[in-house]
Amino acid sequence: MEILVVDHPLVAHKLTTLRDARTDSPTFRRLTDELVTLLAYEATRDVRVSDVTVETPLAPAPGVQLTRPTPLVIPILRAGLGMLDGMTRLLPTAEVGFLGMARNEETLQPATYADRLPQDLAGRQCYVLDPMLATGGTLAASLKLLVERGADHVTAICLLAAPEGLEAVQTKLKESLGEDHSAVLRVVTAAVDEQLNEQGFIIPGLGDAGDRLYG
Ligand code: PRP
Repeated sequence: MEILVVDHPLVAHKLTTLRDARTDSPTFRRLTDELVTLLAYEATRDVRVSDVTVETPLAPAPGVQLTRPTPLVIPILRAGLGMLDGMTRLLPTAEVGFLGMARNEETLQPATYADRLPQDLAGRQCYVLDPMLATGGTLAASLKLLVERGADHVTAICLLAAPEGLEAVQTKLKESLGEDHSAVLRVVTAAVDEQLNEQGFIIPGLGDAGDRLYG
């Protein structure tokens, strides 16, 4: 599993305002949108393209176009929905699948309540959107579902991740897919924070992303 922390002053600047408890919901939504586009730029660096030739007004020119099947973007409801527009701005032809997952705030275990994904994901590049990777339970469960449908190239885009969650996802991947798991998942995030608290919240984090986006 590869972890990419996007090191860019604009990413850091927007994340700082997102963390600020005084940032209101409309500003939080706008900044999430902007931040995702910046993260998506890095996350799609390995999107598959094919060579083509295009006719300029003067001569043929070599170029590329997205390879079919087009990538699948998967926001994890509900908070991941706040990241969808920022992602599709960069990948307007992507198909969108929805996965609803809610973490039980006592057991911290995720439960799937909505699954609107294609049945066959073989050969599809998948981009999972979820602002927070806390205990890692939600991402691990999502990934299991995608891999069971044949996905072998999954990039998770998160605003923030906790070290414990990254470790847990890595361990679960190894358990379920064996040593040869490394190429399946890449995590792209704006920052890896210090730790989780007892309630499973990322510290210092930014609070509950779903609540700050949608109330
Ligand atoms: C939050 C967050 C992630 C998940 C992360 O969602 O958006 O999906 O928790 O936690 P984990 O890494 O410990 O599994 P939540 O379950 O609160 O639902 P919401 O998006 O509807 O607010």
